Amino acid sequence: MNQKSLPDAIPALFPKASDRDRIGSWLTLELEQALRRVQAGPVAPTIDMQKFRAELQSFDFGKPRPLEDALRWTIERMEHGIVQMANPRYFGLFNPGANFPAQCADRIAGCFNPQLASSASSPVPVALENHLVRAVAQRAGFGGEATGHFATGGSEANYTALLCALTAAHTNFSNQGARAFAGPVKFYTSRDCHIAWLKIAHQAGVGRAALRLVDTDGCGRLDPQALRQAIAVDRAAGAVPVMVIATAGTTGGGMIDPLHPCADVAKQQGLWFHVDAAWGGAVLASNRLRGLLDGIERADSITIDAHKWFAATMGCAIFVTTRGELLPEAFHASTSFTPSSISGVDPYLTSVQWSRRFLGLRLFLALAAAGWEGLGAHVERGIEVIELIKQRLIAAGWRIANDSPLAVLDAIPPADLGDVRNLVRRVVASGRAWVAPTLFEGEDVVRICATNGETRMEDVDALIAALNQRP
Ligand SMILES: Cc1ncc(COP(=O)(O)O)c(C=O)c1O
Repeated sequence: MNQKSLPDAIPALFPKASDRDRIGSWLTLELEQALRRVQAGPVAPTIDMQKFRAELQSFDFGKPRPLEDALRWTIERMEHGIVQMANPRYFGLFNPGANFPAQCADRIAGCFNPQLASSASSPVPVALENHLVRAVAQRAGFGGEATGHFATGGSEANYTALLCALTAAHTNFSNQGARAFAGPVKFYTSRDCHIAWLKIAHQAGVGRAALRLVDTDGCGRLDPQALRQAIAVDRAAGAVPVMVIATAGTTGGGMIDPLHPCADVAKQQGLWFHVDAAWGGAVLASNRLRGLLDGIERADSITIDAHKWFAATMGCAIFVTTRGELLPEAFHASTSFTPSSISGVDPYLTSVQWSRRFLGLRLFLALAAAGWEGLGAHVERGIEVIELIKQRLIAAGWRIANDSPLAVLDAIPPADLGDVRNLVRRVVASGRAWVAPTLFEGEDVVRICATNGETRMEDVDALIAALNQRP
């Protein structure tokens, strides 16, 4: 028989072991040094984007370049071309400086590249994620029946909640979609919710008009009376309410909607109760603070983003539900090629995704290394940082608009510092710190959030100085 040998593997894609060792060690060192420079440098990007776009044109992919050159080029551009979440003076949106165990998890997942769609392909990762989901569910006060999975982000987890609520509301939803309902579908959350719910309504096929934004109580929390009224008005008009959502840690003000009253309304009305704890759910790690989420255990489902306050790498969300029987109903499919197709077990049959990355390892390693106590201390530290900033701003004549027990401060500057939008622009442009403008109960505020686990006293000093800089 003619023994024809195969061509070698493409070395640029699959270098030999000694090259991998050398490049891997070099990359680890380079990244560590870059991180140190990033932490000491400006928070905002400094790159000239016009020059960068021109430079990008040189990548026509006609002629390969050495990987080390491309890696060095990428690290340099990342160092100057993004808002730096790793900088301890980033007091921005819910984007953390990533914890180290989660970064290690990404390396491990990248190396083994497990396919988590099926439990037969990835028995260990699937069991590990299930174990972790149960641990998180227990922390939230759910019984042993709770189940769930990891998702790419809060939006995917919230989307899952809506699909479950719709599936629970009508047995024909899974086959007929919104047409199964006798009238237009409605679901309810406060006007201070994360507005991705609008996209979620669109994606789910019930239309953006299905989202009812309920009034807040003047302090950034959903008003249960207004909720009751909105449901009554909609029912009278022939609409079909399906879900109530409470936000535990609003994006703008870090407020926690009244969980028990929201649960009461949902239960009385026979509606799915979801708690969007994408950011605030992290307080469950702290024995001292977890009582703030009292009532979350009454939810049919919850969302927690590990890539927010747990500082996992992006994006790593957890969806937990006590109505696990709905997941196979909402996400069933059948194939002849998947190594296993066990209803209620295989992730591709119980979730939005098909191919899936080993996301849970990021939280698993962080929890394994720090324990609930360590993660809880990290969350408590964030609240201490914000408390300190609050005292310093009040002493400098600022007013605080929100009364959040969590790590978000919405602050209003004294008149001589000018308006909020210009002030924030000045701070961001200075590169000394990063904050965001937002609206809280109709008022322009500077939103300051403790997101970086390494913020020190001198970083708070730098922030306060930047905020109080006269125009
Ligand atoms: C309360 C809340 N829910 C949902 C989301 C969306 O999460 P993600 O960006 O992970 O999709 C956010 C994002 O900030 C949020 O603050």
